[in-house]
Amino acid sequence: SKRVTTADFRRMKQEGTPITMLTAYDYPMATLVDASGIDGILVGDSLGNVVLGYDSTVPVTMEDMIHHVRAVSRGAKRAMVVADMPFLSYHISREESVRNAGRLMQEGLAQAVKLEGGSEVVDTIKAITSAGIPVMGHLGLTPQSVYQLGGYKVQGKDGEAARRLLEDAQKLEQAGVFAIVLECIPQQLAKVITQSLSIPTIGIGAGTDCDGQILVTYDLLGMFSDFVPKFVKRYANLKEQIIQACRDYQKEVKNKSFPGPEHVFNMAEEELKKIY
Ligand code: KIV
Ligand code: NA
Repeated sequence: SKRVTTADFRRMKQEGTPITMLTAYDYPMATLVDASGIDGILVGDSLGNVVLGYDSTVPVTMEDMIHHVRAVSRGAKRAMVVADMPFLSYHISREESVRNAGRLMQEGLAQAVKLEGGSEVVDTIKAITSAGIPVMGHLGLTPQSVYQLGGYKVQGKDGEAARRLLEDAQKLEQAGVFAIVLECIPQQLAKVITQSLSIPTIGIGAGTDCDGQILVTYDLLGMFSDFVPKFVKRYANLKEQIIQACRDYQKEVKNKSFPGPEHVFNMAEEELKKIY
């Protein structure tokens, strides 16, 4: 079937059809998430926390991202694949930023990139979109700045900060982003921002008035529990199921009920005789 595009995102906002996004970091999960009919798959740099075991997204490199974006792209046939630009990959110079965004498209086979920040990344966004690369913005709680923000906390709660976030969202739209992720901001602010833009907002911890929602797939499946933010809803508890399945396997190996007759290969009796 036909691939979801940035034009579809815009149309869904206009029609009032909520846009759905989830993360994936590898081929099997991308295949399953894509089969569910999701609109967009983000290869988030949450990869760092969720599959690489770091305690922030800061250590994630371009090489890490390309490796995982490629795997996801091989599994996602219908959803738009958006690749996160990792820490420092879009800050050194415009040239380096365009080249890195281009690598995520050309080597990772993504259809768009996402980067964090407001007015400070406007020129970078213009340069990347000038190269024909769709860019998604990301405002509010921007995890690559966690050491500057002083922790993973709700952003834009006071009027001054809220007004800056609204202005940043408008600047990102003018710079040419096709959508903006709003992470961990009050729902009232997310609503004002969403109504003031003609491009869609994709919320995570930003209430129901955004044009779409995104969650980390491992969080909603209950597979990642190092840290569970308030905005996560668990739709399954796979962690327990996985541990139980691994226990059952071990028990059956120890008591020799696995492998069973249906799992083994046989050879003819006369062939067996030839080995003696
Ligand atoms: O890296 C990520 O998974 C993200 C989403 C949470 C928006 O940036
Ligand atoms: Na991210």
